[in-house]
Amino acid sequence: MRVTIRDIQEMKARGEKIPMLTAYDSASARLLDDTGVPMLLVGDSLGQVVLGYDSTLPVTMDDMLHHVKAVVRGSKTALVVADMPFMSYQIDAKQALANAGRFLQEGGAQAIKLEGGRHVANSVHCIVQSGIPVMGHLGFTPQSVNQFGGYRVQGRSAKAAAALLADALALEQAGAFCVVLELVPAALAKLITERLRVPTIGIGAGPHCDGQVQVFHDFLGLIPDFAPKHAKQYASLGETVKTAAAAYMDEVKRGVFPTDKHSFTMDESVLAEVTKTSPREG
Ligand code: KIV
Repeated sequence: MRVTIRDIQEMKARGEKIPMLTAYDSASARLLDDTGVPMLLVGDSLGQVVLGYDSTLPVTMDDMLHHVKAVVRGSKTALVVADMPFMSYQIDAKQALANAGRFLQEGGAQAIKLEGGRHVANSVHCIVQSGIPVMGHLGFTPQSVNQFGGYRVQGRSAKAAAALLADALALEQAGAFCVVLELVPAALAKLITERLRVPTIGIGAGPHCDGQVQVFHDFLGLIPDFAPKHAKQYASLGETVKTAAAAYMDEVKRGVFPTDKHSFTMDESVLAEVTKTSPREG
């Protein structure tokens, strides 16, 4: 039985922190699911960390569906949230609902996430009314990187902070079951968290959010030369991978790998027969 949005909301009511991690494939989803993490987000950050783009903007519905299906196959208990990619929901509520539906119907996800506040509230309402749980996303919303002029903390001025709070309340009013706050001053994230009944999930938004989310490659140190301020590396897997690959290459070159342990046998009489019936040419 998977975690439900009700379980997530009850965690806030109990004052229990909500950890979320991103996942993009079946093997990593299985590892994370085994730890009991309650929510896995198939983020459109896959554009950068998996597909090698320099932003999330080129990611398509087909890209997302491909990875959402893999994460659903790899996990058993986590609530899987599928991220709506750029231009899959911005046109109108009809487009947003149709694409959100694909993530549940074809992808097997239990919820979707989309970016934006009051201007997407109507779409959020339509999606939720159709039975699809929606996670909001405010603050620095990566699909608007060009509008923001770079990767910047949002909500530092009184006007911007008030707008963020209004956006969060609008998402809650529209039926969002929780809201991600990205790159938001900790004090503002605290205020929003106190004002909302639904949980906030922070990334670069300080310790007062109801939950936290980290990107798979960031928290595992898989991209050694990239360490954003909001991320903490709990392992150095990038270095581990390089060390393992170097050891493998060394053993292959020296003929040390593979050994009998990694090889398969056959009956010697069969080999003798093949050698006899198929003599070497020339
Ligand atoms: O795409 C993503 O991984 C996200 C999280 C950083 C919240 O949106």
